[in-house]
Order: sequence, then C-alpha cells, then structure tokens
Amino acid sequence: MKILHFGDIHVWRLRLAPDFWYFKRLLGTVNLTARRRMRFPGHYPAIVAAEVVKSGAEVVIFSGDMSTMSLVPEFEEAARLFAPIREKWGDRFFCIPGNHDRYSPGSMKSGLYERYFPYGAFEEDKLVRRQLIDDGLVIVGFDCSHPCRIRSNGTISDKLEKELRAALEYEQSEGNRVLLTGHYPLAYPADVHAAWEHKLLKAERLAQLVNEFEPIAYFHGHKHQRWIERVGKTLCVNCGAAGMVSSDIRKQAGFVTVELDRETLTNPVAHYLDRATEEFATCDMEIPG
Ligand SMILES: [Fe+2]
Ligand SMILES: [Fe+2]
Repeated sequence: MKILHFGDIHVWRLRLAPDFWYFKRLLGTVNLTARRRMRFPGHYPAIVAAEVVKSGAEVVIFSGDMSTMSLVPEFEEAARLFAPIREKWGDRFFCIPGNHDRYSPGSMKSGLYERYFPYGAFEEDKLVRRQLIDDGLVIVGFDCSHPCRIRSNGTISDKLEKELRAALEYEQSEGNRVLLTGHYPLAYPADVHAAWEHKLLKAERLAQLVNEFEPIAYFHGHKHQRWIERVGKTLCVNCGAAGMVSSDIRKQAGFVTVELDRETLTNPVAHYLDRATEEFATCDMEIPG
C-alpha cells in the first residue's frame, strides 16, 4: 500500500483578523510582511496540491499547518485546494490541524478549522480520532496544537495523553496495526536543532506511548525539513513543508511517499518541486537501521 504524506503547506493571505490585537497576530503579520512571503511563494500550494491529486497513492495524510495565521481566506483557499484530494480519496485522506491552524484563541473558538475541514474535525471535546483504512489497519491522529502568545509549542497534555493511551489500548485489543499522526516531531536528526520555543512540550509522554504500543509509523511535520528517524520500532516520518522554498532539497516544497508492506515501511521517496523548472523531482530517502 502506497502512502503519501504531506503537511505545512502554509497558505497565507495578508489580512487583518478580528482579533488582530492578539500579540501573536501582531508578530505574525510583521513576520509575514517582512519574511514569510519570500519563504512561502504564493503559487506553490496549488502546484503541490495538484501533484498530490495526480498521485497513485492509496492513502493520503496531511499532518497540519494548512494555514499561516488561521485566517478565514487562508482556510478557504486551503479547503479549495484540498477539495479534489478529499473527493478522490474520501476517508482515505486523513488530516489534522497544526499550530498555525490553532493560531489564536479567537480563531479556535470560532471553530474555523472545523468549519473548513469537517472531514478532519475531532469529535467535540476530543483530541484523538481514528480512521479505519483497510482491514486491521487504522490511522490514529491527535491534536496537540494550541494557541501560544509568542512561542510555537504544542503539548501532550494530561487529557491528550489519557485519550491517546485509551485509543492505542483499544487498537491493540482489536489487533489493529496503527499509523500514528501528529503535528510535532518526536525525534530529530543529530544535526537538526530542536528550538525550545518550537518543540513539543511533554514529548516524553508521546515517546513512552510510542515505545509501549509500537505503531508502525509516526507521521508528522512542523519542522520544515524531510527526514526519517526511528524511535524504538517506530519510524518517524517528517514530510517537510509542502509550501516552502529552499536551496536545500530536504526543505524545498514537496512531500514523502512510502510503501507499507504489512508491518514494514519500505521505499521512502522525497518528492520535491525543482526550483528552476517547477517540475517535480524525486530522491530516495534512507530508513535508519
Ligand atoms: Fe509549519
Ligand atoms: Fe507547525
């Protein structure tokens, strides 16, 4: 079974939000005006989404950050780009929000993510959801993102840890194989700096659950660089940013595909948008031993 994993497409629109006074919004607007527009070319999301639609993958996972500041026009555009993906894959397109989709308390309270991505919404007051995608194979996704006034942290809260444990215990009791999906990295390559203001807080709780229940894979993004790391038996796949421009092909806009053979992930491939031609190119990725 071929799985396509993308995330961090970061559609952006320069608009004033109703809660523009929220400190992070002021910071974000200045940052977007000054820098982010250069790093996330406006025409990239449509090119990448169209390439995803062309894929022959059987399952598509989006691991969060469809928007930049949780603005209505950003969600609208992301929903428009994702509509053909949803149409082609139905319940085999699984998506969760990232921290940029939980940007401010106001945008969360208005339920903007849920309004534009009803198929990616969690049940009321729940932080974990599951999707059966094949006989004995489920995706378990969780939402650890929340507004932060200045930083970009997510958290494995007491509530999330409890829900995630219950969900993994259930899948284990049913004998199901699990593909876990969250927004934040669990493990970083040795040469990548994990900034404290950008990290998953209480990540040791997630590490404990991964070590205990051994999902086949943990699909995530957030740090905009493609990689595969191992935590126990679980392969942690970072799809990189679907919308960012970089001279480093691990960071350049694109996504990852992998093959799932029963309990083993094989043949990981990075697909990236060649900067010069704006055509897609591929590069094999390494699975750590
Ligand atoms: Fe991101
Ligand atoms: Fe993020």
